Amino acid sequence: MQKVHYKIDPWKIIEKDFDSSKVKASESIFSLGNGFMGQRANFEEHYSGTTFQGSYIGGIYYPDKTKVGWWKNGYPEYFAKVLNSPSWIGIHINVNSFPLDLNKCLEVSNFKRILDMKSGIYIRSFEAQLTQSSRIAVEVKRFLSMDKNELGVINYKIKSLQGKSKLTIESFIDGNIKNEDSNWSDPFWKHRGSVCSQDLILLNSQTLKTKFDIATYAQTELLNHSGQRLSKFNFSEKEFRVSQTKEHDLNELEHCTILKYGGYINGLNHNRNKFEKIAENTVKYASEKGFKTLEDDHRKVWLEIWDQSDIEIVGDDKAQQGIRFNIFQLNQTYDGRDSRLNIGPKGFTGEKYGGSTYWDTEAYCLPFYMATKSHKVARNLLKYRYDHLEKAIENAEKLGFKNGSALYPMVTMNGEECHNEWEITFEEIHRNGAIAYAIFNYERFTGDLTYIPEMGLEVLIAISRFWAERVNYSENKKAYVILGVTGPNEYENNVNNNWYTNYLAQWCLQYTTKEILKIKKMHPQHWNRIKEKVSWQESEIDKWNQIATQIHFPRHPENNIFLQQDGFLDKTIIPASSIDKSERPINQHWSWDRILRSPFIKQADVLQGLYLFEENFDYEFIKKHFDFYEPLTVHESSLSACVHSILASRLGRIEKAYLLYLRTSRLDLDDYNKEVEEGLHITSMAGTWMSLVQGFGGVRIINDQLHIDSILPKSWEKYNFKINYRNTSINVEVDKKKVNIIHSNPSLAIYCHGELVKI
Ligand code: BGC
Repeated sequence: MQKVHYKIDPWKIIEKDFDSSKVKASESIFSLGNGFMGQRANFEEHYSGTTFQGSYIGGIYYPDKTKVGWWKNGYPEYFAKVLNSPSWIGIHINVNSFPLDLNKCLEVSNFKRILDMKSGIYIRSFEAQLTQSSRIAVEVKRFLSMDKNELGVINYKIKSLQGKSKLTIESFIDGNIKNEDSNWSDPFWKHRGSVCSQDLILLNSQTLKTKFDIATYAQTELLNHSGQRLSKFNFSEKEFRVSQTKEHDLNELEHCTILKYGGYINGLNHNRNKFEKIAENTVKYASEKGFKTLEDDHRKVWLEIWDQSDIEIVGDDKAQQGIRFNIFQLNQTYDGRDSRLNIGPKGFTGEKYGGSTYWDTEAYCLPFYMATKSHKVARNLLKYRYDHLEKAIENAEKLGFKNGSALYPMVTMNGEECHNEWEITFEEIHRNGAIAYAIFNYERFTGDLTYIPEMGLEVLIAISRFWAERVNYSENKKAYVILGVTGPNEYENNVNNNWYTNYLAQWCLQYTTKEILKIKKMHPQHWNRIKEKVSWQESEIDKWNQIATQIHFPRHPENNIFLQQDGFLDKTIIPASSIDKSERPINQHWSWDRILRSPFIKQADVLQGLYLFEENFDYEFIKKHFDFYEPLTVHESSLSACVHSILASRLGRIEKAYLLYLRTSRLDLDDYNKEVEEGLHITSMAGTWMSLVQGFGGVRIINDQLHIDSILPKSWEKYNFKINYRNTSINVEVDKKKVNIIHSNPSLAIYCHGELVKI
């Protein structure tokens, strides 16, 4: 069992005591976001200790020139980086001329952070002994409004605990920011002037190269001990730091409150000539409403979100806290209103992975958004890829493919590939399959039959064309093969016939064929449009059929197990339990070649395929594969444990499923992979949701019928969750004796443990 640092609580994440070695980790854990912008939980006041400063804005990136040791033809020119943006949260305080800095105080006591997930509010409090004769108490509340997404609010209360406290307050916007992961230490922003007044501070900035315009704005108010608003602040600007300052004296046991409203006005949504006006209106709106009303409006949106997406677990607060933390973070990251945005593996909580889009979105995130929100949200995720189709075709062309084949990028911000490790960029082509699978998954789950004729079919055709070009016929094997790939398990590169990739390619060719026939018949007008647009040749289908029926799948010669790749059995097959604990995770201890030669699997690969296509395989078959692959899997990708947990549930191995569930749901809270400082694993959080709803909850669609085969982990008394299946809200409650399924659609048929149940 992992060591627990944050107090277990069903609705809250609580940290007690100040530990400077945990500051970076907690900055990740207590991150805030509202789908539009996000920020790590950096302190408002100055902190001279180790910290990772981060404020991010959805869709705003910089193309950082590629840096590699040895250039390979076909590498992209740049890696898109989510940008650390000007920070508006800074409130520096001097008390009796001594700067408040938790790293330098004589003593910090009663330190506490609380993330209240129910209301989306982050609270931090502490007492600081600054000098022998000066002690203050601070309580800070902060949120990024879910109601008005350009607005963030800070309520910073200071109380004098010892003698008089003469405060100097500087509330500012800081434009002197940089990305920790910049390739060449380039500046990413150019500042284009500021507004500095009693009523508003604002810094106009533009990203270099991509030329995104952003205004960072803020306004500060001070309320005295009796809650009276005091006259306005002084203001000044120095080297891209725009400040409002004020002095205020507190007698012993008196307090004051600094209210700060701030955020970004984004050129993706507004004309830059209007930035100042919009910022003025926003602070006016905030000031008139006041903290309490803004907080209530924000809270209301969270209540609606929880009403749709909460999962309640009774009898196991650790598991409860885990799932809510995951659901909370997913909702902070993406709200699905803007199809130009997507879900970066770290969301708004860090810089790793560049904030860009990966296959994680289709393979892991889509089911969560599809089941807990209006179907428009999931459709927007699909539309994102439709809008990038031309770029995906160009990407394939750059690599030598022709005739409208599309290779979607492994990593992207705008449809262009920006990943630059050959074994991933060129070889992890399974991402194309996940995008096709998402289209299938969306239609069968939502029942929206319009997406495929309107957009999806073009994507499917282009992806199928890619597979048809990427295979070659092996005279030796008398079969089609896919050479030189990396499967989801990145601990093997440049392998031949990765089972997962080959299976997806086969499925994709067959599925696209089926959909073409369907659309021809049901939507002839759409088909005529598409046919023209893609220069369709009827002979393509015959070729696809030939490939699909003759594609090679590597198998174990004795027990018929699908092998991860042609050469897998040449490895010495020993279980991961034989690795010394001190050498885990192996990616932090072993050389890369040693990892590649080992049989150890980073993340679900063959099992990923069995999970996606579960209805094609029976219990015994899945069991055999699970027993072969699970002992070899080190789960060093955050995307792994959830899939294994779902299969373990399917096999009735509840204890195993439960342990894997804890690992995925508490991955960041308990820092399993020792890297939480870098940010949270947002995309794998959707995997956690899957391991609960599809794993324990047993929600799956088989032959177009909804099945709910729920099981209950031993330590749970009961749990319940909701899904929005084909526009019917279904509530599932599972306890020790029964499964209750509640909905109000008389025509909906659901199978429970093989039996048809109707309302
Ligand atoms: C995983 C990939 C994943 C990426 C971003 C990597 O560690 O192996 O499958 O797409 O992280 O989450």
